[in-house]
Amino acid sequence: MRIGILGTGNMADALGTQWAGAGHQILFAGRSPDRARALARRTGGAAGTFEEAVTFGSAVLLALPHDVARDTLTALGAGNATLRERVLIDCTNAVGPGFVLTTEGGPGAARALADATGARVVKAFNHLPDSVWRLTPPAFADGPLSVPLCGDDADALDTVAALVRDLGCVPLTVGGLDRAAYLEATTAFLIGLWHSGHDPRTLLPPFEAATA
Ligand SMILES: NC(=O)c1ccc[n+]([C@@H]2O[C@H](COP(=O)([O-])OP(=O)(O)OC[C@H]3O[C@@H](n4cnc5c(N)ncnc54)[C@H](OP(=O)(O)O)[C@@H]3O)[C@@H](O)[C@H]2O)c1
Repeated sequence: MRIGILGTGNMADALGTQWAGAGHQILFAGRSPDRARALARRTGGAAGTFEEAVTFGSAVLLALPHDVARDTLTALGAGNATLRERVLIDCTNAVGPGFVLTTEGGPGAARALADATGARVVKAFNHLPDSVWRLTPPAFADGPLSVPLCGDDADALDTVAALVRDLGCVPLTVGGLDRAAYLEATTAFLIGLWHSGHDPRTLLPPFEAATA
């Protein structure tokens, strides 16, 4: 698959490196052409502009700060014809100081991106840090990680599910974009716990106990 990656930071590096290793063609784009070229050299991919990444990839990973992602896509032209055909993977977390959602009271980050661009947005990979996505595979004592996906387009969900499997993880479609805001809020909650030194896993009973 051809994947355009918007961003040259931690998430671009973590996921781009994994997908390049799985045989996908990657084009990295960022405001620093040098960083994009360095990632391209290391992974055997290509580098270009944001516009070229959107044209290149049938799937496009948004690995920018949330507000930057929205503005970057809007600058390409709201309702851009190419963008509307793309599977847009939204891994952004619109989380501000105090681990508060900056979308609070709004439609949620993924929904807002879909509304602004018309793209087939799938929320994915936002709930865990890049250090986990860099593991090959991201698996622990309980086995491979499940990766929650939210999206309204069945083909787009299938595309991202395949990319999840390429990491060695298990895709778990948990709903449409209306559920993405819950995933975003859950992630803000998790980040707050981790930063306070608490292990969220201690909050959860075994599945059987919760569903008895
Ligand atoms: N890191 C994680 O553990 C993690 C996990 C899940 C989700 N996320 C989400 O993934 C997204 C990317 O996170 P990250 O950790 O990869 O961030 P990062 O390492 O800071 O990289 C951010 C990227 O965005 C670019 N950027 C920043 N401000 C920009 C601007 N005003 N205009 C254009 N480009 C700009 C940076 O360019 P420069 O290199 O030139 O600064 C860099 O390429 C965020 O939305 C974050 O919430 C992160």
